[in-house]
Amino acid sequence: MMKVPFVAPSRVYQMYKEELDAAYFEVMSRGDLIDRSHLRTFEEELAAFTGTRFAVGVNSGYDALHLSLRAHGIGPGDEVIVPAHTFVATCSAVVNTGATPVLVDVTKDFNIDITKVEEVITPKTRAIIPVHLSGWMADMPAVMEIAAKYNLVVVEDACQSLGSSINGKGAGAWGNTGCFSFYPFKILGGYGDGGAITTNDEETAQFARRMRFNGEDRQSGEYHGHGFTCLLDNLQAAFLRVKLRHLPEAIIRRKSIAKQYFEALHDLPDLLLPHYNRPGFDHVYQNYTVRARQGNDFSEFLKKNGVEVLTQFRKPYYKHEGLQLIDRGFPETEALSREVCSLPMNVEITPVEIDYVIRVVRSFYHR
Ligand SMILES: Cc1ncc(COP(=O)(O)O)c(C=O)c1O
Repeated sequence: MMKVPFVAPSRVYQMYKEELDAAYFEVMSRGDLIDRSHLRTFEEELAAFTGTRFAVGVNSGYDALHLSLRAHGIGPGDEVIVPAHTFVATCSAVVNTGATPVLVDVTKDFNIDITKVEEVITPKTRAIIPVHLSGWMADMPAVMEIAAKYNLVVVEDACQSLGSSINGKGAGAWGNTGCFSFYPFKILGGYGDGGAITTNDEETAQFARRMRFNGEDRQSGEYHGHGFTCLLDNLQAAFLRVKLRHLPEAIIRRKSIAKQYFEALHDLPDLLLPHYNRPGFDHVYQNYTVRARQGNDFSEFLKKNGVEVLTQFRKPYYKHEGLQLIDRGFPETEALSREVCSLPMNVEITPVEIDYVIRVVRSFYHR
């Protein structure tokens, strides 16, 4: 039996070893650790890549979300709309500002159901966080229309979708801010935690730059508020610059793997594949999450046959008692939670491994 890992970070290191090693030795020999040139250059390169004026490096995707909300003065008494199906950090960022998250169900593409947003808007609604899950963007033209109508702040949770776009406009370039995560297994993965905010608004960028550094203006030494310690490390930024250079080719590779999965699996009636026919929308396949009618039986079969898969969403986050959230009933989220299964999807997977994954999936269905 073959073993196909979900991700293989040591292989990625071998792919970019020369450039990563050079970045490491350069930073270490200079002793450039905090708020140094790689951070600033990475921010410029990331802003250019996403098509925004500014990028501000922070410690995680969570921090990007949290600071984005704070930059717009969101706090106690405010309501913020978030999808019922997302990584918990989207919601925790809202709660930790003191605001109240208001959950909305998703559609079959795993992103917020735009037709259900207006019904939860109240006079207290201040912001909406559309999440672009797995490399596929939420319906941003529709989100922006609703935001304009109700005067809402839009914080894009683009943690899983760097490089994706709608009609050529990048994830993170639509809302007041875009939030990215460089957690190691993200599409642009660092070697530890990392994140960034993108924005076209100078004041928001300045707020984030200060708040990530305990509220301090680094030039004047003035504290502009009680901040946080959540700066992206210069060493991480140096690594991320290497990976960002290779991102366009990595996205091409992900798309070609998705195409292979599609061609080999689309005839299976009990399997819903993440391919959506929407002109102008671009899928970059951070994840290849299928829905199998057989739920755990399917994912357990894959694991038993050596294919490491991810089923992290089995229990929706709002059902975790410790989070004290209101479950208003989200039928699509509940249905997909029972069925989701992310297949190995990464740049380091080999053709032999892809074939093996396909064979195991087909054999589950006796095909
Ligand atoms: C959709 C989504 N939002 C937020 C986050 C938080 O990012 P981080 O883990 O860098 O805090 C993640 C990633 O983990 C994510 O996938």
